[in-house]
Amino acid sequence: MKFRTIIEPFKIKSVESIHMSTEDERIKYLEAAHYNPFLLNSNQVIIDFLTDSGTSAMSNEQWAAMMRGDESYAGAQSWERFYNAIFDLTSYPFILPTHQGRAAERILYGHLGGEGKVFISNTHFDTTRANIEFSGATAYDIPIEESKNHDSNYSFKGNLDCDKLDTLITEHKSENIGAVILTVTNNSGGGQPVSMQNAKDVADICKKHNVLFILDCCRIAENSYFIKHREKGFENHTYKEIAQQMFALADGCVMSAKKDALVNMGGFLALNDEKLAEACTNLLIITEGFTTYGGLSGRDMEAIAVGLTEIFDKDYLYYRIKSTEYLGEKIREKGIPVMYPIGGHAVYINSAQLYDHIPLNQYPGQALVCELYRIGGVRCVEVGSVMFGKYDERGELIPAAMELVRLAIPRRVYTQSHVDYVIEVFDEIVKNKAQTKGYKIIKEPKLLRHFTAHFEKL
Ligand code: F0G
Repeated sequence: MKFRTIIEPFKIKSVESIHMSTEDERIKYLEAAHYNPFLLNSNQVIIDFLTDSGTSAMSNEQWAAMMRGDESYAGAQSWERFYNAIFDLTSYPFILPTHQGRAAERILYGHLGGEGKVFISNTHFDTTRANIEFSGATAYDIPIEESKNHDSNYSFKGNLDCDKLDTLITEHKSENIGAVILTVTNNSGGGQPVSMQNAKDVADICKKHNVLFILDCCRIAENSYFIKHREKGFENHTYKEIAQQMFALADGCVMSAKKDALVNMGGFLALNDEKLAEACTNLLIITEGFTTYGGLSGRDMEAIAVGLTEIFDKDYLYYRIKSTEYLGEKIREKGIPVMYPIGGHAVYINSAQLYDHIPLNQYPGQALVCELYRIGGVRCVEVGSVMFGKYDERGELIPAAMELVRLAIPRRVYTQSHVDYVIEVFDEIVKNKAQTKGYKIIKEPKLLRHFTAHFEKL
């Protein structure tokens, strides 16, 4: 590339205004939200980096396709277009439309799970783990060792540890393994990619033991970008071909279309095995809808069909990955400890390292999340002891493995100047670092407390 500026490969046709709040207003909003950004209204937020899920801007082509939505109960044309787009990409013949990713997880893992069953993954996403555990089964995360080293520049920190996989399957016996799930990219592990070689090795082990291999493919296009640019032998393949090769290694996939299908709602389950698909279809009809729409309306299926082609556009993927990297690299230059290398959909910050004066039971991640909002109106999420912490029998916090804060970037929504603004906000984070204090939880629900907990400033 001759020029350094990463220009957005699209023009803006429709805009959504942002309410430019003042810091005084935000201090009041934050207090009213009990220092939990999940409890803020979106119009109190300037830059919303809470999630990249369901927050994409749809293209004019997607909106045009939605007008073509065929809302027939059975055999709609929109279903045909949805089916063809997914079959073309995955080659899995049995496709079940669901309203979002976790519905596909509930159907598949609910069916495969149950007492005594075991699931193994590089890292199960929260809803994946929750659906597996809810069925009575056990979920094991076995990311490679390099994934735990924040500063390691290893290219594929999302990989699964294949030695451990082989041992775990042998230990638990093949017939008790519900599935092996490869999450690409590894969201809970920092948005890090999985290599094709790792997927091949996982596939070989699964074949050897006759165990089901499923891809959690919601960010597969972003993962393909990393393979093309980091893994030998893929330089001359298109991003779509790389994704197709990865799908060919697995027995099926679960997708939250809210990520790399560029839509605001939707998902699907796709499988090779007819018997398994039949069992899942029964559950689909009971809980989501008839086979040719599942949890979706015709127009949703149209938008997904178009989104699945747009996501592999080389100019889009270049902009997507480079702009995420730009944010991560720039704040790293300011001394912010970011997880390295920068992943595909988000920048992860090690808040315990940034605020090493705040004890873990005073939640350094929550402190950073609140500071980013107070200073710049930037909303993001703590992925640390607020989200994953537990208590021991004396009521003392058992901290999470890592104290991360995630800045997740919605697709095609923010421009370079929005990102430059966020980078400037970090100057103030650095300036205020020593004075930043921790938080205390004063009210929390039993499960998934990060969504609704109330905090008090210390
Ligand atoms: N798998 C992965 C890897 C995910 O990141 C998500 C959602 C899901 C499954 C569930 O999909 O939300 O459509 O039901 N991740 C969102 C996030 C919520 O913010 O990372 P869903």
